[in-house]
Amino acid sequence: METKQLALITGVGKATGIGLEVARQLAGMNYRVIITSRKQETATQLAGILISDGLDVVPIALDVTDEPMVKAVADQINQQYGKLDVLINNATLFPDQYDTTSVELADIRNVFESNFIGSWSTVKHFTLLLRKSEHPRIVNVSSGSGSFGGKGYSLVNPWRDIISAYSISKAALNAFTLKAALDLKPDGILVNAATPGLTATYDTFSDFGSRPVSEGARSIVLAATLPKYGPTGQFFKDGEVIAW
Ligand SMILES: NC(=O)c1ccc[n+]([C@@H]2O[C@H](COP(=O)([O-])OP(=O)(O)OC[C@H]3O[C@@H](n4cnc5c(N)ncnc54)[C@H](OP(=O)(O)O)[C@@H]3O)[C@@H](O)[C@H]2O)c1
Repeated sequence: METKQLALITGVGKATGIGLEVARQLAGMNYRVIITSRKQETATQLAGILISDGLDVVPIALDVTDEPMVKAVADQINQQYGKLDVLINNATLFPDQYDTTSVELADIRNVFESNFIGSWSTVKHFTLLLRKSEHPRIVNVSSGSGSFGGKGYSLVNPWRDIISAYSISKAALNAFTLKAALDLKPDGILVNAATPGLTATYDTFSDFGSRPVSEGARSIVLAATLPKYGPTGQFFKDGEVIAW
């Protein structure tokens, strides 16, 4: 069985995204990191950036909405490494500004498939591997825009008009985090949600006071590296528990 700590991140689809920076930071902490994106060539190209810096990164294609593919990747990791220590559900369709009454229901379904059901699917199929870890952790990458009681932007204090399927899918992801944390507690698997905060992964975000990708990613890494028997069923930002 693999002796290094092994992490898998979903939705590592672009060089400026949070997923790749999370991979960089974890690999810098001596993790082997499997980065996954919908297309193999994207995963390979992005992994190449970190590999050329001497980091231990493995690219695999994974579309989280494709359940047979999720299961196949879990089987592949089981055969190659025999376990998984950290699962980070980062994949997201973003942003959307759907109006309640003019929205196409197909668009809502797509957002929920990627952001919510896709995360449930990876938890479902990777839990077998996480159970083989001595210190298993799941991080569901959420958003303050999906919180009910958070300070700053939230469901009740929306940022611009982006408070539609995206934010509501993150509220569902938060609820799922609570459920999975309870179900997986007997296995010692920590299940938490974490938000990077408004982060400069899109050019326009800098107009709204976004912070650097390294800082947003750090918030996710802190939740992914919680100590054994650490908190579970919580929502974190920068290592601090925040309101659902
Ligand atoms: N940036 C922020 O300010 C901010 C704030 C709060 C929370 N977050 C959260 O932080 C995470 C990363 O954000 P980001 O800004 O880096 O987002 P991003 O650049 O949009 O990256 C998300 C990635 O998810 C991928 N994806 C979408 N559907 C997928 C699927 N079905 N299977 C696999 N991958 C899929 C996309 O891949 P493609 O390239 O193939 O489309 C995209 O590259 C997200 O969960 C987001 O909700 C971000």
